[in-house]
Amino acid sequence: MATPYAYFKKEFVPLAEAKIGIMTHAFNYGTGVFEGIRGNWNEDEDQVYIFRVKEHYDRLRKSCKIMRIEFPYETEELVSMTTRLVEMSDMHEDVYIRPLAYKSAEVLGVRLHDLEDDFLIFVAPFGPYLDLEKGARCQTSSWRRVADTGIPARAKITGIYANSALAKTEAQLNGFDEAIMLDERGHISEGSGENIFIVMDGKLITPPPSSDILVGITRDTVMTLAREELGMDVIERDIDRTELYIADECFMTGTAAHVTPVVELDRRLIGDGKMGPVAAELVRLYFDIIKGKNAKYAPWCTPCYSRVKA
Ligand SMILES: Cc1ncc(COP(=O)(O)O)c(C=O)c1O
Repeated sequence: MATPYAYFKKEFVPLAEAKIGIMTHAFNYGTGVFEGIRGNWNEDEDQVYIFRVKEHYDRLRKSCKIMRIEFPYETEELVSMTTRLVEMSDMHEDVYIRPLAYKSAEVLGVRLHDLEDDFLIFVAPFGPYLDLEKGARCQTSSWRRVADTGIPARAKITGIYANSALAKTEAQLNGFDEAIMLDERGHISEGSGENIFIVMDGKLITPPPSSDILVGITRDTVMTLAREELGMDVIERDIDRTELYIADECFMTGTAAHVTPVVELDRRLIGDGKMGPVAAELVRLYFDIIKGKNAKYAPWCTPCYSRVKA
């Protein structure tokens, strides 16, 4: 039986024993930064492959820098802590790994300086997030994506997810699957937990980091695959809301969402309302890669169970 473990206060402990105090600064003020990493189950090899773990820890390091959180860990050390956690938890399924660096001081006072920091990792089973086959029916959110001048979206800050939660709940209670947020200038930014792409005239187009997006690792993966495997031009530029209405295809990318087609926005079908050919080809490549089945992209996949060699 799988028992989830956590790395907490510099020890590996059963997840059920990892508890924080109610005065913890990050809990009160949203002063933590985190990552969402997937471990993907490969049944043939009885192996869990963690996808682009180094890139996730690189992004965490940048988030820490922005939020003045001390993060004294080497990447190699973080990778081995992460694989060890999955191995200890004995999970043989798709898993979600959540590293979180945070202001751990149990004191009152809104600030970032003169506070203790800590770091934890936990792991949980995690299946599909959006329905990839059916695609997502989306709504342009009435909530704007927070700007770099407010809370920087390039940092994956716990407190920023109040913005995502407002948008996601509005969309779901209105009968949609996901929200698409505009940036403060009114251009397409991102979903509540996904980056956005459109296909127009054979080109793949996505908003730039200056559209207040989290610069996604799945986004980078898809851009690389589109260029290198599909030979497509990939363009980062501002995108208007109505460009999505008339796009040939639209899809979202994210660690949770994988590559999920957006089949409808604001009650207008996108393309013919089904997964388009570019998304289908990217989905096919992507799922093989994340499960460690494509030798060319093996460096992106880190095996957890040591009995199987990389
Ligand atoms: C707001 C937001 N945008 C985009 C993404 C996609 O990023 P990634 O592909 O690195 O998971 C996420 C998920 O982490 C997210 O929370």
